[in-house]
Amino acid sequence: VSRLVIAIDGPAASGKGTLARRLAAHYGLPHLDTGLLYRATACALLDEGLRLDDIEAAVAAARGLSLTDFDDQRLRSREMGESASIVAALPEVRAELVDLQRRFAATDEGAVLDGRDIGTVICPDARVKIFVTASAEKRAQRRALELAGRGEKADYQNILADVKKRDERDSARSVAPLKPADDAVTLDTSELDIEGAFGAALAIVEKGR
Ligand code: C5P
Repeated sequence: VSRLVIAIDGPAASGKGTLARRLAAHYGLPHLDTGLLYRATACALLDEGLRLDDIEAAVAAARGLSLTDFDDQRLRSREMGESASIVAALPEVRAELVDLQRRFAATDEGAVLDGRDIGTVICPDARVKIFVTASAEKRAQRRALELAGRGEKADYQNILADVKKRDERDSARSVAPLKPADDAVTLDTSELDIEGAFGAALAIVEKGR
């Protein structure tokens, strides 16, 4: 079997991260959650007391990232997701992060990457591309449960507003906007639980590989 690159894209809280992790474990492939790159870039700026739209500082922060020193807990907070989508709209930051992502995808066996532009920009030649979606309401519900599980404050209406704002910003930006690649298979997880969604994703990969 030749190398298998799986590109998973989709909006915030669509379940793409969970699916990517599960697929990677199933096929024994390395997994990169590319949202963490933008989150870590934003986090570095905030820690230095710098503005999120300071292009030079943001590019330097992106260049300085190392995949091994991610403080997951802090990076995955709501605030950091919001901040990430601001730095992610800067073309210079995106350009800086392309190589790192492509190198990750270039390993012998293949890889699973999840984000917004994996199928369209980072790995246009990926063997399998899945665009994971779910209604904004379902995504907000899941995010609220996830945050509550981690002991974070989680008001459903606030989270729904957040999710919609992030969709809007990610879809409207001029560089690498959130949209399915022409050859992506769309998987709507609104009515699926995790097992159901994983089964559906596995079927898509098996058909496409
Ligand atoms: O997926 P996650 O919610 O962690 O992503 C945080 C933000 O990073 C997104 O809202 C998006 O603006 C940005 N992002 C991106 N391209 C990716 C992954 C994430 O623009 N490939």
